[in-house]
Amino acid sequence: MPISKQTRIVHPGGFHGGTVRVPGDKSISHRTALLAGISSGTSQIRGFLQAEDCLNTLKAMESFGARSWVDDEGVLSIQGTGGKMIEPAGPLDVGNSGTGMRLLAGLCAGSPITVTLTGDASLQSRPMRRIQEPLELMGARVDLTPGGTAPMTIHGGQLHGIEYRLPTASAQVKSCCILAGLYAEGRTTVLEPIPTRDHTERMLRAVGAPIRVEGQNISIDGYGPQGPRFLARPYVVPGDFSSAAYWLAAAAAIPGLTVCAEGVGLNLRRTALLDVLRRMGARVQIERTSAPTDPEVYGNVTVTGAELKGTAVGGEEIPNLIDELPLVAVLGALAQGQTVIRDAGELRVKESDRIAVMVENLSYLGVEAAERPDGMVISGPAKVVPAKSVRSYGDHRIAMSMSMLAIFASAPVTIANVACVETSYPEFWEQLGKLGVNVE
Ligand code: S3P
Repeated sequence: MPISKQTRIVHPGGFHGGTVRVPGDKSISHRTALLAGISSGTSQIRGFLQAEDCLNTLKAMESFGARSWVDDEGVLSIQGTGGKMIEPAGPLDVGNSGTGMRLLAGLCAGSPITVTLTGDASLQSRPMRRIQEPLELMGARVDLTPGGTAPMTIHGGQLHGIEYRLPTASAQVKSCCILAGLYAEGRTTVLEPIPTRDHTERMLRAVGAPIRVEGQNISIDGYGPQGPRFLARPYVVPGDFSSAAYWLAAAAAIPGLTVCAEGVGLNLRRTALLDVLRRMGARVQIERTSAPTDPEVYGNVTVTGAELKGTAVGGEEIPNLIDELPLVAVLGALAQGQTVIRDAGELRVKESDRIAVMVENLSYLGVEAAERPDGMVISGPAKVVPAKSVRSYGDHRIAMSMSMLAIFASAPVTIANVACVETSYPEFWEQLGKLGVNVE
């Protein structure tokens, strides 16, 4: 395998822990671009994630009429449209991002415009009927390929509120419905089977939208086709817990070693990995630094490693660590006994089929791992042996999770096709180096 920017060789050992600051939260950055993009006036955003996924969402918002620029200190300004959405001149390519595509679809469905959303090969293989159904029930028309995938064309129209029971626990689909609900007549209510990340709800509350959360039912009173009248405001995006998770997990597996991630989002709908780390034997300390009035909770997390033991992960916990499950599989390989992941069939429709891909990659590195329809079973502790190369399948979370396992191998491991890391964590390799790991 030729060595290029697309390939990294991760040498074992070297990880010495320390204090890290990770870039801004991806989910929150997407939503900030959307809300600031439809507000009146110019919003200033600190900590916006300058990575491909969020920049594509920002570009899409510019096609709808918003403007944006970054100052010398890295603060992003977004001048919003005041609620109106203009028809983009051509198709909008949102790259790799399911969040970008599903949330933008909801946002534009209530305006009298036609919008085509497309993305890369991975995104074009992901299920979109899950948003077509509620948007059409509300009164929009959504064209998909016969397989129910993007490219997707949304024929926006006069929407009316609906009561919609989500067939799958998905914050993306929930947020799509809520954003469409902003432009609808009447009330839209979404019923969640299991609670999922609630960044959209928190942000809407912060801008004064009429959103109500009662248990697992979320209601929004629509503003009608002219859209909401949100005022520009400052936003602070905390560090992304999902990015910090790699360093916290690596520390957890090395007895006595410590990593402190500063200024990371601590929303409980995102941090179930910390409960898993505790169950596996690691020590976790949390120091909240956000003010009670901040829409999101954030602070510092310190993990101290131990001899890990396997655990079971499933049920209501799954949405709260959905993006960390490849990392849980890696930890399973390092822990004593079995680690079982269940109720996680959604992993099959992420940026890759994360069940099949993780089991394949773990097996390449000598780990005993078995696929289940809705999860996997991993036995440890494994002797991690180098493979000629492990493949990311263009999935950022696979590339980063496998790099973590490579630290524990007996010789260097080649990770192929790593350009995908740019979608969420461009500084990942540099940070890995700063924490003591030799990366070529
Ligand atoms: C996200 C929700 C999750 C998660 C994704 C980001 C979001 O997807 O996997 O990385 O920002 O709403 P689902 O809600 O579809 O599970």
